[in-house]
Amino acid sequence: MSRLDSFIRRMSAQRDCLNWSAGALNGVDGPVLELGLGNGRTYDHLRSLFPDREIFVFERRVNAHPDCIPDQAHLILGDIFETLTGFAARLPAGAALAHADIGSGDTELNRQMAVRLPELLAPMMTPGGLVFSDQPLSHDGWRPEPLPEGVPADRYFIYRT
Ligand SMILES: C[S@@+](CC[C@H](N)C(=O)[O-])C[C@H]1O[C@@H](n2cnc3c(N)ncnc32)[C@H](O)[C@@H]1O
Repeated sequence: MSRLDSFIRRMSAQRDCLNWSAGALNGVDGPVLELGLGNGRTYDHLRSLFPDREIFVFERRVNAHPDCIPDQAHLILGDIFETLTGFAARLPAGAALAHADIGSGDTELNRQMAVRLPELLAPMMTPGGLVFSDQPLSHDGWRPEPLPEGVPADRYFIYRT
């Protein structure tokens, strides 16, 4: 498979999973956490899927399309592993969805992230919420969800909290 094919498949899987989340969160209240703004593509998609929910975006350095930058109240700047720590107090009822697209080509960094992120996120999620990740995560209180039809295994990971 060419790198172009691989890129397209990754983006399609991401979009298919996010689209699926809109229906899968019916009846689950709470804001959305976008971890890693990047170019702002998935943030833009999330706000089209969830126009009535607050979306809080965590990013260390903004480099997004100008139309896809959240207002100051919804942009939490800094390293996620520092900023998430204090943020739980701002969400007493928990978030309905967390989307983490912060994996890198560095296997060791991804491994560390996969250990630390669930510990930080778990207390911030409402029961019945969803965690999406480009890397496999593990937490005792989370159940892996089957991927939407057509999404190849290991392209994306979904957990019900
Ligand atoms: C792959 S990009 C996200 C792309 C985004 N989903 C999109 O559709 O445009 C990953 C982003 O996560 C951010 N990031 C990675 N690790 C981070 C960390 N520990 N703290 C804050 N931001 C981080 C990077 O700066 C980068 O902008």
